[in-house]
Amino acid sequence: MPNTTAASAQSARPWNPDSWRDCPIRQVPTYPDAAKLAEMEARLRKYPPLVFAGEARRLKAQLALASEGKAFVLQGGDCAESFSDFTANVIRDTFRVLLQMAVVLTFGASLPVVKMGRMAGQFAKPRSSDTETIDGVTLPSYRGDIINGPEFTEASRIPDPGRMEFGYFQSASTLNLLRAFSSGGYADLSEVHRWNLGFVERSPLAGRYKDLAGRIDETLSFMAACGMTSTTTRDLRETDFYISHEALLLPYEQALSRVDSTTGNWYGCSSHFLWIGDRTRQIEGAHVEFLRGLQNPLGVKLGPTQDPDELLKLLDILNPRNEAGRITLISRMGADKIQARLPALVHAVVRSGHKVLWLSDPMHGNTISTVAKLKTRNFDSILQEVRSFFDIHAAEGTWAGGVHVEMTGQDVTECIGGAHRLSEADLSERYETFCDPRLNAEQALELAFLVAEELKSRRVPHAPHALAAQ
Ligand code: PEP
Ligand code: CO
Repeated sequence: MPNTTAASAQSARPWNPDSWRDCPIRQVPTYPDAAKLAEMEARLRKYPPLVFAGEARRLKAQLALASEGKAFVLQGGDCAESFSDFTANVIRDTFRVLLQMAVVLTFGASLPVVKMGRMAGQFAKPRSSDTETIDGVTLPSYRGDIINGPEFTEASRIPDPGRMEFGYFQSASTLNLLRAFSSGGYADLSEVHRWNLGFVERSPLAGRYKDLAGRIDETLSFMAACGMTSTTTRDLRETDFYISHEALLLPYEQALSRVDSTTGNWYGCSSHFLWIGDRTRQIEGAHVEFLRGLQNPLGVKLGPTQDPDELLKLLDILNPRNEAGRITLISRMGADKIQARLPALVHAVVRSGHKVLWLSDPMHGNTISTVAKLKTRNFDSILQEVRSFFDIHAAEGTWAGGVHVEMTGQDVTECIGGAHRLSEADLSERYETFCDPRLNAEQALELAFLVAEELKSRRVPHAPHALAAQ
């Protein structure tokens, strides 16, 4: 693998948890009260880690399998979690829809599905503008609840380090519930399938989805006849569920990183999986510098401005040992740009020999503004981007390894289209997001059914077959 000189110099440079502080940084606000920030960092450094390094290693091994075409990945959740929407029902409903989607995708791909929530820490948001102007008043932009408040007042928009502590506790509490659901019986495959049957009944496209749901039904009955039920088989009543978020707020991420006593390596312990956003992936920037020193599996968002040579440098820096499962490239080009942009990136990576996992984020390149100035996304563009993603990987001979979506278990009206044909006029009914528009529960499941059809139609006849729970 060609290690470019500049990149290998950078990856050979000594790393320490503070080394990012000497690099140019974007999207992280300057806190006016530096003493309060330092005090909060010191406090968080003493708190227990949220995840255990062994879990991050296990996820990395599963992502390595996905990068080899032996698993499919589903990553999804809110654009931004919020302090005010922090309830058991919100957590449960997002988790439930992710499980429902995963069952359908498992069947479509005939492969295990690795499940990662954009949950339990997805608070900090990059913004395209530093300020927001309403009726002639200009204030700093809202940057996510872990940084400042969404209310349009001067006081609320001041970055407050105290918010990090609430973010930490909300993450801990969310993760606790997710762990309880994953192993306590809520993730029972037959229950999840029963919820899917409910969805199919309600869908205007019931006819189309009935076939797939019917075949899952038959498979479960067959397995039960063979003695494999959720009572007898642990894999049918429990599931692995991982958390992930954008590693944007570096003071927080650093304060929650720890040396793993088993290996002596640094791990980010705020989450199993951390990703670098499209706006903070500069190879000399602070985010890349900080994350290269952590051993977690990492994601990098790739937008239409990503240059292929720069991408190779980035891979040399973030994954100098070319470890499988370390890097997930999350392409978010837009339905209208993906054909022009993604093939060159895939080509370059293949030629370089870098082992990566490719995911499609069909949300962030397809955001549009309505006449009423609401941000929305069209279900058709989302589907079109996913389909192009599959086409491009099929043409390049690479594995289209998964999808990354912004969705919620709630019945919101934020994205237009889908089987229920939400229109622009419907959006104001339940438009609840603090940030980007999310697929509602029905739209998310519909997408899973359509992606499952796609996976099934592309299945190689003798592809490795795994009977995995959800
Ligand atoms: C996001 O995932 O919410 C996000 C901001 O994405 P991107 O970095 O791809 O714009
Ligand atoms: Co978003």
